[in-house]
Amino acid sequence: MRLRDVFIEFLREKGIESISTNSFKVLDEDPVQYIARKFASGEFKIAKGRGKYCFDLSGNFVDSCSHIAWRLRDGISNTEISEKLSDFPFVVIDCSLKHIHTEKELLSLRKQIQKTLSVVRKYIWDDRLVVAGFDVDISCRKYPSVEDFLSEMNFERVVILDPNADGVFDGEKAECYIIGGIVDKSGNKKGATEKIYRRIEENGFQVERRKILLRGDVVGVPDRVNHIAEIVLKCILDGMDVEKAVYDVQNRKIARWRLRKEIARNAKKVEVSGKKFRVIERSFFDGVRKWLKVNEDDFYRCARDMGVMVLGDDFISAKALKVVGSL
Ligand SMILES: C[S@@+](CC[C@H](N)C(=O)[O-])C[C@H]1O[C@@H](n2cnc3c(N)ncnc32)[C@H](O)[C@@H]1O
Repeated sequence: MRLRDVFIEFLREKGIESISTNSFKVLDEDPVQYIARKFASGEFKIAKGRGKYCFDLSGNFVDSCSHIAWRLRDGISNTEISEKLSDFPFVVIDCSLKHIHTEKELLSLRKQIQKTLSVVRKYIWDDRLVVAGFDVDISCRKYPSVEDFLSEMNFERVVILDPNADGVFDGEKAECYIIGGIVDKSGNKKGATEKIYRRIEENGFQVERRKILLRGDVVGVPDRVNHIAEIVLKCILDGMDVEKAVYDVQNRKIARWRLRKEIARNAKKVEVSGKKFRVIERSFFDGVRKWLKVNEDDFYRCARDMGVMVLGDDFISAKALKVVGSL
């Protein structure tokens, strides 16, 4: 369940079926989630009354409303829901390796962190995002290091997302998920997340390392910090399986990288009149499009770039073509 679902349950338990607020910013996003996150952060309290913008609990506009969520002195506060709020995880971005980044990469990291806040706001609220070791001008928790944060919290289970881990992330729940604030635009930063992991462990904190895979491979898994955060939140709060979460977040460019790998794995070598060609069945695309965000153009383009011909299935099985091996 996302924060909004927990908030709706809470309001219903109190007999509240519609809610209003005065901030026009409520119009910029899911209104119930907006009010929920302002309430969870302690900024809004709820009391009887009517604000400018009224909604039912599905987020539809309504004309009248019995309660308002606003910056009130008295009213229902987040302390009444604190136990449920404490079940939501923290997303922590470790930026301790900022010194190995170029200015351009740091700019990109800053943008990815801002986007991560937008992601966090769809599922939880600002206070659940922690940025360690980087000066960012956004509403989130800020710490000099991940260790400073962990020593304050006393978590039982912390997971670090690392593409080079042995263990595979399967949507397992933890109180805290650490993502490396690393941008791979220049230089070789392979293994950088492992360095973060080793340092945290050496400093006395137990952390589980997990990689996110798409059908057994990291290729095709988007690697931006905000995308990793969204995959994790979709799995643990929406109960989505990892493959579907990766698909939802994936863009076509990243999907094409994986498509090339799949074409290379599945193409066949054939011989026609003594000449050898590399071919792939058209039906291969029907299978792959279910889990890679690619369209037919991408398929033909990738195959062409790789020198692989796309043929009808009947054509390949016809006697005219002698399959002489796979690639
Ligand atoms: C651009 S990646 C940097 C990866 C880095 N080059 C390395 O080899 O450790 C940024 C962060 O996203 C997360 N990440 C990216 N892809 C991942 C994957 N497939 N599985 C788990 N975490 C991933 C990690 O936390 C990583 O530190």
